[in-house]
Amino acid sequence: GQLDPVQEINTLLETVEKEKGWHIPIHVDGASGGFILPFLYPDFAWDFRLSHVHSINVSGHKYGLVYPGVGWLIMRDKADLPEDLIFYVNYLGSQEATYTLNFSRGSAMMIAQYYNLLRLGKKGYKAVMKNSLQNARYLASKLKKVPNLQLVNEDIKLPILALRVKDKTEYNVFQMSDKLRERGWIVPAYSLPENAQDVEVLRVVVKENFSRDMADMLVDDMHRYAKVLHEQCKTPPAPSKREKAKPNRKPLC
Ligand SMILES: Cc1ncc(COP(=O)(O)O)c(C=O)c1O
Repeated sequence: GQLDPVQEINTLLETVEKEKGWHIPIHVDGASGGFILPFLYPDFAWDFRLSHVHSINVSGHKYGLVYPGVGWLIMRDKADLPEDLIFYVNYLGSQEATYTLNFSRGSAMMIAQYYNLLRLGKKGYKAVMKNSLQNARYLASKLKKVPNLQLVNEDIKLPILALRVKDKTEYNVFQMSDKLRERGWIVPAYSLPENAQDVEVLRVVVKENFSRDMADMLVDDMHRYAKVLHEQCKTPPAPSKREKAKPNRKPLC
């Protein structure tokens, strides 16, 4: 639920350009934020207002409010789109330029995206994003009370939560994720990329269809599984004869 300081990075790159003459472009991965920032933080500069931002990707199927899979890649200038990526075809009756990653694909989600933009407008998207953010903050305040869980960052700017465990011998994020899946929740657990690979997190994405009632249900399930896992880890069932015979038997937690 955090934002990269794109403006600060841009300022650094402006200094580099002045001192060395190098123009270093920025690509902004706005997969989630691209459909949130314009509505919740219109004054936060992260886009083409910044001189070094040359391209931006946004997922329509995240906060764009359509089903998978549609996403958008926009360039600051035509010159930023490498000619190598463009195919010119005329077999559809006229000369057309295409730079999709594959050829024929359904356009239903693009129409759905277009419909939502017209139907909801700026006001509607703002209301949806505001509600999702409030629900995410509500969920965060409740999840903090689940034994052994903590928020990676308490300052929630986007309706996305990252959580980690305080003590892996109580239970770990992978066990919690597996347990939640049994109840139909998909809360992915994963380790962060290189140089932070020891940090393991659970991620909860709060979209417009995630209501407060659902937040309460998820919190209840997490409380229940925190208890179940704690008991399993602290008093694991006695190993069977076959398990005892296994060399390097891994501890449960
Ligand atoms: C930061 C970020 N970039 C890119 C992606 C991939 O986006 P897509 O689902 O549109 O392929 C994701 C998906 O979770 C993401 O969180």
